[in-house]
Amino acid sequence: MKLLQQKIREEGVVLSDSVLKVDSFLNHGVDPQLMDAIGEEFSKRFKDQSITKVLTIESSGIAPALMTSLKLGIPMVFARKKKSLTQSDGLITSKVYSFTKREENTISISSQYIQTGDRVLIIDDFLANGQAALGLIDLAEQAGAEVAGIGIVIEKSFQDGGEILRQKGFRVESLAELHSLKNGRITYKEEATAGVNHS
Ligand code: G4P
Repeated sequence: MKLLQQKIREEGVVLSDSVLKVDSFLNHGVDPQLMDAIGEEFSKRFKDQSITKVLTIESSGIAPALMTSLKLGIPMVFARKKKSLTQSDGLITSKVYSFTKREENTISISSQYIQTGDRVLIIDDFLANGQAALGLIDLAEQAGAEVAGIGIVIEKSFQDGGEILRQKGFRVESLAELHSLKNGRITYKEEATAGVNHS
């Protein structure tokens, strides 16, 4: 998605060989026009999949997931990382280990919001090692739903999450695929394939 790639080039900050900071539009500040375009793009890519619910995880997945659900005309549900005061009966939980943060979170949804017969589209901001997506797949499957696709705003193709999910047979659609962040430089997957070098 050109608009997103351009935004990453303009505002993304490479913090290390493996971490890209995009706080200005995705992880802290949120650009509503860009989120609108992202929602439109995911909705276009998955419109023939009879999706009934969009599922994400707090916090940075919420903006792109909400715009996608709005465009598809279906509800959005976000998994919580901490149990809320009002969550009680029928809680479905899964454990997610973050290699980046070296911590484990128990994520949860109420069984009220995703049920047998639902076709779920998982949306998240970043795909690194795939642990968050695997946790969301587990929640959806425990609820009796089917995962019909996974939409990722920024996939770090040099980490193994994408491969793990695709090998399991899931359709993963990423709007920007980072081939490398080495030496402070952003290289997209298609540039690496075409041999283009942005210095
Ligand atoms: P994984 O789910 O693919 O295994 O990813 P990982 O555990 O490595 O990521 C943990 C958190 O760090 C997630 O956010 C993820 O979105 C984020 N993350 C991973 N790599 C990058 C990166 O290169 N840049 C940025 N900006 N974030 C990255 P989170 O803890 O759930 O945060 P939030 O959703 O509450 O903002």
